[in-house]
Amino acid sequence: MPAPAPEASTKPRHVAIIMDGNGRWAAARGRPRALGHRLGVQAARRVVRAASERDVPVLSLFAFSQENWRRPEREVRMLIHLFGRTLRREAEGLRSNNVRMRFIGSREAFPASLRREMEGVESLTAGNNGLQLLVALGYGGQWDICHAAECARRDGVPIDHESLSERLSTADFPPPDLLIRTGGEYRISNFMLWQLAYAELRFVETLWPDFDADDLDQALTWYAQRQRRFGMVAEA
Ligand code: IPE
Ligand code: IPE
Ligand code: MG
Repeated sequence: MPAPAPEASTKPRHVAIIMDGNGRWAAARGRPRALGHRLGVQAARRVVRAASERDVPVLSLFAFSQENWRRPEREVRMLIHLFGRTLRREAEGLRSNNVRMRFIGSREAFPASLRREMEGVESLTAGNNGLQLLVALGYGGQWDICHAAECARRDGVPIDHESLSERLSTADFPPPDLLIRTGGEYRISNFMLWQLAYAELRFVETLWPDFDADDLDQALTWYAQRQRRFGMVAEA
């Protein structure tokens, strides 16, 4: 028997975003990709604020995938530097706005200095009970499932829906109800493969640096009109 279907609501409990299109935004203007990434951080800032104001309980942002390690070393280094600087700049604002920030993904490959920044923001905001912000860094959906299975095996429990759900990096949160991907690509790129099983998928052409609160509102309005059935039959 599958797990009981969750209650459908017009408001998503968890919004997940694949923030894509920074490089193309810059290339279209003949500018370096780094500029696109910097403006991508500004877009993330706007969306965190908007989600918080709209009482979205959980927001996940895909910032760096495991596959992104395959990018040119120069770009990877630039991104790591940008993440560190952003955390230092934003930590206090997140704390005072009651946002709790956590990271999901495999941290091992990041420099120790960035890992310390990540832990610092997590502990600084640990007491906050407003928006729960999950930032996926070094994240892969396949990694998440394999890691959960490995933990279940180590704990000596059978591998089933419950034991895996409890050991995924998102165990403390409901699964995303709404996934938004910007940048005009119609794929999941190894994000939350397990957790997106019943998410409503919204793909938009807007490149991430251009995404703003209006785009979030449009997505929330669109979501409210979906009829979610979770495998059941629509009510008359
Ligand atoms: C998304 O923008 C940010 C990261 C993956 C780090 P991209 O860098 O993928 O931008 P495009 O897709 O090349 O335009
Ligand atoms: C997905 O974007 C990962 C993030 C947004 C962090 P990519 O730009 O890496 O995805 P692909 O390579 O086009 O599938
Ligand atoms: Mg991309």
